[in-house]
Amino acid sequence: MGIVANRHDALMRDHPLMKACRREAVPFTPVWIMRQAGRYMPEYRAVRERHGFLEMCRRPDLAAEVTVTAVERLGVDAGIIFADILLPLIPMGADLTYEKGEGPHIAHPVRSAADVDRLATDGIADSLGFVGESIKLARAGLGGTPLIGFAGAPFTLASYLIEGGSARDYRRTKTFMYSEPRAWERLMSKLAEVTADYLAMQIAAGADVIQLFDSWVGALSPVDYKLRVLPYSSRAIAAISGKAPVIHFGTSTAGILELLRDAGGDVIGLDWRVDLGAAWRRLGDGVSVQGNLDPVALFAPLSELRVQVRAILDSAGGRPGHIFNLGHGILPETPVDNVIAMVDMVHELSMK
Ligand code: CP3
Repeated sequence: MGIVANRHDALMRDHPLMKACRREAVPFTPVWIMRQAGRYMPEYRAVRERHGFLEMCRRPDLAAEVTVTAVERLGVDAGIIFADILLPLIPMGADLTYEKGEGPHIAHPVRSAADVDRLATDGIADSLGFVGESIKLARAGLGGTPLIGFAGAPFTLASYLIEGGSARDYRRTKTFMYSEPRAWERLMSKLAEVTADYLAMQIAAGADVIQLFDSWVGALSPVDYKLRVLPYSSRAIAAISGKAPVIHFGTSTAGILELLRDAGGDVIGLDWRVDLGAAWRRLGDGVSVQGNLDPVALFAPLSELRVQVRAILDSAGGRPGHIFNLGHGILPETPVDNVIAMVDMVHELSMK
């Protein structure tokens, strides 16, 4: 085991994705895609037809299979383990289900201080040991390609717990934050602790890189982010600092980019609403950036897609530390051939 692990570490150190996390020069810009193992892919749909979504997450053989298939089919430079940011909420005590076509649903959302106090934090990472097993299997299947582990950031997790599902204006989440400040602190502390433990478990199982998804953090004002959210994201990231590079991702973050950086992470994930080069100048030399093609650009004619890919590479200007990705998850209707073409374009246009 020791020898196998050492060989993996040596292979990994020189991989373009790992180098980009450290802002070292690379022969081409590494690329992967958020939600790359998903419904747009026929191979995924074939497995999904026979198994429930949660069942797929809990079966390491299936989770590893769809993870590895996506990498092989697309030719991307990293896998992301098949799982979901909401999984830790189940052992914490939330009655989470995934309704067909409607996304996640929590039947009894967190609406009071007592609800917060009922949430468990002990042994959560252990209950999610199947994710660690998926990581071990997927890593063996990926050979020399890095595997990304992930978790939801405290705010995005809190928003699901409080709203009970996806939301538009986060009215309930913010109202709770403003009206129950002590309970909000306890909730965010619990989520930071669980997230840190869960990520440490994934790294121990073999995740080479971590992505922290704060997908809905852009709903917050800068001052609310700074005072009521940043400390908890920061705590989760600090807990795993030095163990694996961290990609810190959010959407609609143009107003809080510097704060997101201050919360931590080696790489800041950008959505398509910002110019990548301009955002990077704001963030400074101390971080890498990831992004940021509009997921809808994958529906454009290939000639236009190429213009869009080139514009992002030009905006990055060949500076070491760019990981190409979409600005958010791939849409279920996306044509697979265009995705493969996009990955090839990134490699070809960035080749030194
Ligand atoms: O990226 C990958 O390929 C790895 C797997 C992955 C999934 N979800 C699988 C999934 C990852 C990294 C996630 C993250 C996730 N999950 C986020 C953050 C990323 C983002 O988009 O901002 C969020 C907010 C969730 C919560 C979640 N899970 C939602 C809102 C939904 C429903 C939306 C939808 O697309 O249907 C899910 C379900 C889900 N997670 C699916 C997949 C492949 C679809 C489930 C199915 O097969 O029916």
